[in-house]
Amino acid sequence: MSVLVTGGAGYIGSHTVRALEKRGYEVIVVDNLSKGHRSSVNKSVFYEGDIRDKDFLGGVFSKHKITAVIHFAALSLVGESVKRPDLYFSANLQGALSLLDVMNKHDVDQLVFSSTAAVYGEPSVGPLLEEHPKVPTNPYGESKLFIEKILHRHDQAFGIRSISLRYFNAAGADLAGDIGEDHRPETHLIPLILQTALEQRREIQIFGTDYPTDDGTCIRDYIHVNDLSDAHILALEALASGASSNAYNLGNGKGFSVREVIATAEKVVGRSIPTQEAPRRAGDPAILVASSERIQSELNWEPKLADLKSIIETAWVWHKSHPHGFRK
Ligand code: UFG
Repeated sequence: MSVLVTGGAGYIGSHTVRALEKRGYEVIVVDNLSKGHRSSVNKSVFYEGDIRDKDFLGGVFSKHKITAVIHFAALSLVGESVKRPDLYFSANLQGALSLLDVMNKHDVDQLVFSSTAAVYGEPSVGPLLEEHPKVPTNPYGESKLFIEKILHRHDQAFGIRSISLRYFNAAGADLAGDIGEDHRPETHLIPLILQTALEQRREIQIFGTDYPTDDGTCIRDYIHVNDLSDAHILALEALASGASSNAYNLGNGKGFSVREVIATAEKVVGRSIPTQEAPRRAGDPAILVASSERIQSELNWEPKLADLKSIIETAWVWHKSHPHGFRK
């Protein structure tokens, strides 16, 4: 079975490509390399190009007998999306529409979609169930929610079945140690903490100490990137055996504050990490914790690296051995 992975050279994409390869899928990767790293894909067929270019994308579908698509290609930074909504709506919405159009023309009717906890906005209760009201507070979350709606309509009108996976905070690195997180610029908490431990940064800033949480800092639900990859394969298998369209949360159901993440990282690296208190970052909800019961019971998803210390340990192996990420 051939699977097209858009954005397969990105952080979660490249880990999912490895998982697919291990399970014997033929994988075709498309990535415009605006954020991804060419060297993170070493086995699968690779095409450099933008999914908004329908001639390019149609050419890929014509060359390969694609059965299903996993769609990661998107811009994904909350803060940047507030400053440049134009870029986010263009890349994310036009990208998805172009992909769906080409899938439709080539009779490909199964799609796993990379969605986000940001579709919920500022949640009122936790752990969040999939039915929780969706009121995104930033253009990134809005773009992903619109795409979920577009997918729903494309199922009704054209029979394209899709599973949307709403990730909470992806973290960690593949256990083989040769791929991991490398965003430029880096904005995510765990890589920034570990870069501080490597003395590439002077200190880690704590964005906001006056949130309504026990220690005043934001609480997030961190999930290992390989556990996310596994969920994509389960979703793919479910669609292949005729499952209806659906959406699932993906987290570990346990929240950690920014200070708790830093303290756990200090245990992993064996030294103290300098911090600096800073103002809140715009658009950050206080608490985001998932209920992943639906995917556990319906798709038998089970996290293998659920504990935060183990997640950070895998990230630490990557950062220590690749202090400059994918750059030599
Ligand atoms: N944080 C800091 N200091 C930093 C960086 C982050 O205190 O230098 C804090 C943030 O304020 C937040 C927490 O650490 O409270 C986690 O921040 P990340 O940037 O690592 O992750 P986010 O929670 O902002 O983002 C994640 C996903 C997004 C998704 C979002 C949903 O990466 O794709 O959750 O809100 F949209």
